[in-house]
Amino acid sequence: MKRHFVLVEFSKDHHQALILAQICKINSPEYKGMPTTVAGKAKLVLEKWESELKPHFNLEEKLLVPLAENKSIRLKELCKRIILEHKQIENLIGKISKNMELETTLNEFGLLLDNHVRLEEREWFEEIQNALSSEEINNLAVQVKKEKESSTQTCKK
Ligand SMILES: [Fe+2]
Ligand SMILES: [Fe+2]
Repeated sequence: MKRHFVLVEFSKDHHQALILAQICKINSPEYKGMPTTVAGKAKLVLEKWESELKPHFNLEEKLLVPLAENKSIRLKELCKRIILEHKQIENLIGKISKNMELETTLNEFGLLLDNHVRLEEREWFEEIQNALSSEEINNLAVQVKKEKESSTQTCKK
């Protein structure tokens, strides 16, 4: 099904996240312009966590979860799993920032982030799109725009 434009905003971030996930896996091929050492990858992951992943997870939990979780049993399960995986990813970020078993942790992070994004794209967004009314979609679009604007303003400060 064609993705609704509100969810396209989230899907754009997903594309970047998938590239990051890819380079973190053990034996990943080299990507142009991306770090090739374990230390370089860890540094990039921590930067991307602060600038992109954390705000993205927050936006999903703030705007999408409350709207979706009571629409169906399947959506309830999916929302629970999404939140749990966000926590698991955040825990791995904690380990990466402490340099704990860096190569293995990065690999775990890559696998989890990859699966997480695919779950959202293949199932969560499909279910959300089917469950929301056009009014809810329009409200969501307004909210997403507001949040994005306020986050770019904080960046400029
Ligand atoms: Fe997510
Ligand atoms: Fe996401």
